[in-house]
Amino acid sequence: MKFFVDTANIDEIRKADGWGVVDGVTTNPTLIGREGKEFEPTVKAICELMGDRPVSAEVVSTEAEGMLAEARVLAGWAGNIVVKIPMCKEGMKAVKILSQEGIKTNVTLTFSAGQGLIAAKAGATYCSPFVGRIDDAGSDGMVLVKQLCDIYSAYGYPTQIIVASVRQPGHVIQAACWGAHVATVPFKVLDNMFSHPLTDIGMERFLADWNKLQEELGKA
Ligand code: G3P
Repeated sequence: MKFFVDTANIDEIRKADGWGVVDGVTTNPTLIGREGKEFEPTVKAICELMGDRPVSAEVVSTEAEGMLAEARVLAGWAGNIVVKIPMCKEGMKAVKILSQEGIKTNVTLTFSAGQGLIAAKAGATYCSPFVGRIDDAGSDGMVLVKQLCDIYSAYGYPTQIIVASVRQPGHVIQAACWGAHVATVPFKVLDNMFSHPLTDIGMERFLADWNKLQEELGKA
């Protein structure tokens, strides 16, 4: 399973990358806005940091023509750009054309299996079901991930599922059990995934026992 980090914060990306488990980055206008910096230099800096690993950057046009124009500009910024396009009719028109042009796309704001199926049929490189927002609305977002895993594998669609709007490690684990290709994880959630109280206790005990032995052997 690939881990993308869902942030536009360069420090977070650099730190998470240092842990050795980051396969890419996703951003959206909200995450970019949170940083309070210009879009273009921010995206370019993330792309440079990631090397050849994918970086999703989102269009803000609502018509296919505008989305296509933005997508082509974004794709010119770096070879690892993935253009994030919202799930809607105009968006899927754009995705179809971009996939024919060889520009990678990530269909965002996917909340139903029907939408995910359409994204795959349009030729999306990635499709992002927003599990946390579905949970927030009182349903189970992970059901959608299971449905998309089943549909894509039944028909052999090459579209990769990015489990997005992740709120907690359980979302990632469940997605991994079902074979989702990617989880895009907020920095805090990724940080949490490294920890377990028994690991901390175990490390303390091993260290204490080691130090005790050194004392017994007169080495301390
Ligand atoms: O990047 C898309 C998605 O992960 C946003 O998540 O937390 O705003 O629902 P959230």
